[in-house]
Amino acid sequence: MSCNSRAQLCFLLLSVTALRGQSRYLDAQENEISSEGLFALLNSELKRELPEEYVYRRPLRCLDMVAAEGQFTFKADHPQLNCAVFFIGEPNDIISIEYDSININCREGDFIKVFDGWVMKGEKFPSSQDHLLPLYERYSDYCDSGEAHPVVRSSQNVAMVFFRLHQSGSSFSITFRKVFNPFPCNVISQTPEGRFSMVIPQQHRNCSYSIIYPVEIQIGELSLGHHNDLKRSIHGCAGARDFVELLGGNGVDTSKMFPMILYILTIYIMFYFPFQLKVGCDNTVVRMVSSGKFVNRVTFQYRLLGHQELAKLKRNSVEDMCLSG
Ligand SMILES: *[C@@H]1O[C@H](CO)[C@@H](O)[C@H](O)[C@H]1NC(C)=O
Repeated sequence: MSCNSRAQLCFLLLSVTALRGQSRYLDAQENEISSEGLFALLNSELKRELPEEYVYRRPLRCLDMVAAEGQFTFKADHPQLNCAVFFIGEPNDIISIEYDSININCREGDFIKVFDGWVMKGEKFPSSQDHLLPLYERYSDYCDSGEAHPVVRSSQNVAMVFFRLHQSGSSFSITFRKVFNPFPCNVISQTPEGRFSMVIPQQHRNCSYSIIYPVEIQIGELSLGHHNDLKRSIHGCAGARDFVELLGGNGVDTSKMFPMILYILTIYIMFYFPFQLKVGCDNTVVRMVSSGKFVNRVTFQYRLLGHQELAKLKRNSVEDMCLSG
């Protein structure tokens, strides 16, 4: 998938890969959904006018995007073997999915699974390097949950539901809620413009903020390390593993993206400098790696690149990794 496809925004390339084999594993994870397809889904979802009713209700499609809280029902009128629903909230939200009424046949191989993150074309967000849980713990399968019908919560503002129903007449309803997250770490931005401060308060973890649009990004403020730690840093060389990187690429797995800029903490950095860069990729990510010894912070803002800017960027770039995909 190349980046030079803003013009195709209207196309919705929603071909979820055809069913192969009887694997219980999900072909929908290999979904061929393109970034244009994703934006289009997202934009139509964000433009949705919400009715005034207390609980928003609507039917789900086999490939769907949900950004508004409410109750969502799927009814199979024929076998539906590879369905995937993307859920997204604001940066400060986590996603809660509650099973309401479920009428599926687990013994016949039906399933409903929640994934803690997004999977696009086989790539996962957050990547394994940025998520606190091992991969297998990020799946929760309704059919394995026995009699209890739990509420599943994500670790960040995105989650997915995969399902497979073999019989027409099978159906289920789930309720989606957004729950406030005071310390957002991994985020996918809903919008192509915004501003965010990413803070890792003395935790040994990595955080990625992903913008799935070609944007101009401005890094305003960066502080890695802390005054009080200065002495210790010099002596112990502590914090050498703390850094902020700006990544560009066409998938969602940050470990497969290309670094465009890297700030490494050697002793102590804190500066205010409007620094900006145009990134003509489908996905731009600000990623912070933190040793846990410092309070690290980066503040940035971004806006969508126009057609002309994007075209100019392409003309000028000798070797643009995002155009060669
Ligand atoms: C953070 O990412 C780095 C690679 O960038 C990796 O070596 C490290 O194990 C990750 N840290 C955690 C806590 O997962």
